[in-house]
Amino acid sequence: MSKSATIKAVRGMNDILPTDSALWLKVERICAQIFSQHSYAQIRTPLIESTHLFARSIGADTDIVSKEMYTFADRNGDSLTLRPEGTASTVRAGIENGLFYNQQQRLWYVGPMFRHERPQKGRYRQFYQIGVECYGWSTPDIEAEVLSISHKVFQTLGLGRTNLQINSLGDSDARGRYREALVKYLSDCKEQLDEDSQRRLETNPLRILDSKNQDTQALLKEAPSILNYLSEESAKSFSDLQLYLNDLGVPFTINSKLVRGLDYYNDTVFEWVNEDFGAQSTVCGGGRYDRMVEQLGGKATPAFGFAMGLERLVQILQEQEADIAIEGDSADVFLISVGASARRQMIKLQSNLVSAGLNVQCHMGEGSMKNQFKRADKSGAKIAIIIGEEEAEKNSANIKILRRTDNPLAQQAVLQNDAPNMVTNLLKSL
Ligand code: HAM
Repeated sequence: MSKSATIKAVRGMNDILPTDSALWLKVERICAQIFSQHSYAQIRTPLIESTHLFARSIGADTDIVSKEMYTFADRNGDSLTLRPEGTASTVRAGIENGLFYNQQQRLWYVGPMFRHERPQKGRYRQFYQIGVECYGWSTPDIEAEVLSISHKVFQTLGLGRTNLQINSLGDSDARGRYREALVKYLSDCKEQLDEDSQRRLETNPLRILDSKNQDTQALLKEAPSILNYLSEESAKSFSDLQLYLNDLGVPFTINSKLVRGLDYYNDTVFEWVNEDFGAQSTVCGGGRYDRMVEQLGGKATPAFGFAMGLERLVQILQEQEADIAIEGDSADVFLISVGASARRQMIKLQSNLVSAGLNVQCHMGEGSMKNQFKRADKSGAKIAIIIGEEEAEKNSANIKILRRTDNPLAQQAVLQNDAPNMVTNLLKSL
């Protein structure tokens, strides 16, 4: 690369630009508020973890661990990995900090995750997840709470055409028996399976249910259903969850072929799938993972959670032109000054206006009055405050309401010290 060549972002990693970031913030704020209304506390974990963490929790045979992780040796030769998801890190942090010991926890997180996948619409190599994880409850009431939270988020955002699918993967006994039945069923038609599924028949047969290949899906039509292999306890829990969801008015469909891309789940799993977005249409996925805490060295603790993909969620909202009120990031007040001492006073006035709770934009650098007024108009501010050389001598300023032709106060003089109060009241009347 020549020295002057422009440097681009790494493939599959995106900048979130000012045109989109207001919507991102809005989505994150709505989530944070709904989580906190349900008594969830935020946890922040490092972006980098020891590689073993993911191999031991997500499963060595999964796509994520076998081919998608950003793994590297650090300067000490330790194998580290950029986190591909947030659940394993949350469990690691919980064990390390004694959060699970005789306690129940409702946690949430947000942040970038990394997977070396083939980039396409809705699938990136760095992407954001916002998720919740609950520890210490084995009952379906917590599952209903978590699903209701995801539903509330989507409702509040006005997300349309996005449907909840649920399934139960049962306990490991049930999965063992089901796996046997599925392998038996599929072995008879092994030759007709796609290449990936043939390989999975040996390594991870349940993932075949998830195949995107149409011929494979056709073969699966008559395949045995995992729901017929559940223990009494799992079946009861799954049907209780459905009762709760009905009570809550959260619509769902049962999809007995729903398996997840990570190996740590048992019993309830779920996904929210958008009808229009194309191949990468799952906006949110999660489920129960009761074995992970023990697998990672803690005392056995039941766990349930989900993660939403924020790029997908934001893109779908944009495509649906969802009607979300985004707080204007335009200023209330635009400050104009002419001359050196006026400039000094303007900088101080900006600070005082901000302390009074106002959104302020200052013209910086040189510029004629005419030019500064043009910028004030463009800024979207409702009010301009002007300090010229004359005003500077008297510590005063002129206040002008922008974008109103019927303006009775063309310009009104005010002492700079009184400006914060005056502007606050004026804004209320506009
Ligand atoms: P996941 O299904 O792998 O689950 O990811 C959750 C969501 O993250 C997906 O539904 C999708 O919206 C988004 N996502 C995943 N990969 C990408 C990508 N390459 N580009 C853009 N978005 C993506 C988990 O990660 C589990 N940790 C969820 C969970 C939490 N289970 C229990 N607790």
